[in-house]
Amino acid sequence: MKKSPLILVIFCFSFFSVNAQREAASVNQLVIIANNPGPVISRDIYGHFSEHLGTCIYGGIWVGKDSRIPNTDGIRNDVLNALREMKIPNLRWPGGCFADTYHWMDGIGPQEKRASIINTHWGGVTEDNSFGTHEFMRLAELIECEPYISGNVGSGTIREMADWVEYLTSGSDSPMTRLRKQNGREEPWKVKYFAIGNENWGCGGNMTPEFYSDVMRQFSTYLKNYSGNRLYKVACGASDNDLVWTETVMKEPKNRNMFQGLSLHYYSVPGGWGRKSSATDFTENEWWETFRLNYEIDNIIKGHKAIMDRYDPRNTKGLVIDEWGNWFQVEPGTNPGFLYQQNTLRDAITAAIHLNIFNQHADRVKVANLAQVVNVLQAVILTKDDKMILTPTYHVFRMLKVHQDARLLETDLVCEDYSIDRRGIPAISASASVDSEGKVHISIANLNPGKSIVLSCPVIGETYKTVTGEILTANQMAAMNTFENPETVVPQAFKDFRMKEGILTVTMPAKSVVLLELKK
Ligand code: AHR
Repeated sequence: MKKSPLILVIFCFSFFSVNAQREAASVNQLVIIANNPGPVISRDIYGHFSEHLGTCIYGGIWVGKDSRIPNTDGIRNDVLNALREMKIPNLRWPGGCFADTYHWMDGIGPQEKRASIINTHWGGVTEDNSFGTHEFMRLAELIECEPYISGNVGSGTIREMADWVEYLTSGSDSPMTRLRKQNGREEPWKVKYFAIGNENWGCGGNMTPEFYSDVMRQFSTYLKNYSGNRLYKVACGASDNDLVWTETVMKEPKNRNMFQGLSLHYYSVPGGWGRKSSATDFTENEWWETFRLNYEIDNIIKGHKAIMDRYDPRNTKGLVIDEWGNWFQVEPGTNPGFLYQQNTLRDAITAAIHLNIFNQHADRVKVANLAQVVNVLQAVILTKDDKMILTPTYHVFRMLKVHQDARLLETDLVCEDYSIDRRGIPAISASASVDSEGKVHISIANLNPGKSIVLSCPVIGETYKTVTGEILTANQMAAMNTFENPETVVPQAFKDFRMKEGILTVTMPAKSVVLLELKK
């Protein structure tokens, strides 16, 4: 977004005054230009991810029609309600690494006849395929979200993937549509997002970007738009800072003709892959380090975006960050292949940092999916038998859903650092948007666990009469919701702000996420 002259003046003033004063006292200011809305924040950056991994699908979502756990067509009602309330816009399935081992025909037809396979990626457990295409599409229907399907490039065939698209979306008479009808679904479904492989540089076939590009074009050629359905094809993109992958896939015009979105995966792994730290038992150093890693996604997006801008200046391709989140050690005593981790206030702040950054990149980032929705990694929901809890991360998604489809507002943030051992990261993360009714929403996180911060927010260009707020915080950095105490970290009404002469002054408590709504 172009900066308005006014904001430049305010920014220069703020910048110089901040630098001058930083030694003595901190100035924390978020300038919001309210009368010049920018790009629409795609609702799909608030998306989620469900893989056949651990108890994400089995137990977490799918319990089967005969379960004593209340369900709709085999899908847990408590989870359905929670996902609806969070306004989940899209759900990615069936993987992840699982997707490139998944043969969709194993998961259709009468349950008792479905093939059992070994889930070779995740724990070596038996996968009975009782949750397949019809069950996933029913789930998407029940929560009214876009299905996002990952096709199998690594170990599948072109014909298999092409048949899947035909089975799902065609209204014509064909062997695939007859099979679908035989399995109980008369009408085709609508499917928007369809990925041509997952992590094909790794678990999806260990390919080079050159080889993948050739394969991707070949697969894509046969994925057709049937019966008015239009696929948004997602090509496999890079991990982290692998700019070579993005450059290779983007630079060839013939590649670019074959997809609408390019994926990116980025996990924050404090301690590194070999020595992951605990999700619940951590020091302030680890708290800080987690947020430092979270902020990195901003630079990573900028790197990939620069390449995409060069080859796609008209911005026709979206960056699809279809896996992100904190990755910690598994909960002690759980199957290491199931990636089950608890979720604390730290994860809630992580979610706010990411969503604010995705909002800021609304021009290019069109889809994002937190890994994963239930019982895996930075989950929004945890289940244990018939019990379900909402994690602190859930509450941030629920609070910030107001940004979905709103237009990004230009902001300039000048804030003090939150430092440890003389290494600093911005103490405040923020973004703002205006919705179709003219309401402004500002999401702010204060990362510092030991200090409240007074943030001055001049609101330029419009006048607002009423302000309301909601806050998520807790006494401890590692505060979490458990099955015994499910409401330790829940949003509360927030009133610690005042609006005077167009300046909103907010006192952000230590370690908190705040959502403010401004109305005229
Ligand atoms: O989300 C867990 C795994 O992380 C996914 O299966 C894979 O794509 C990634 O490496």
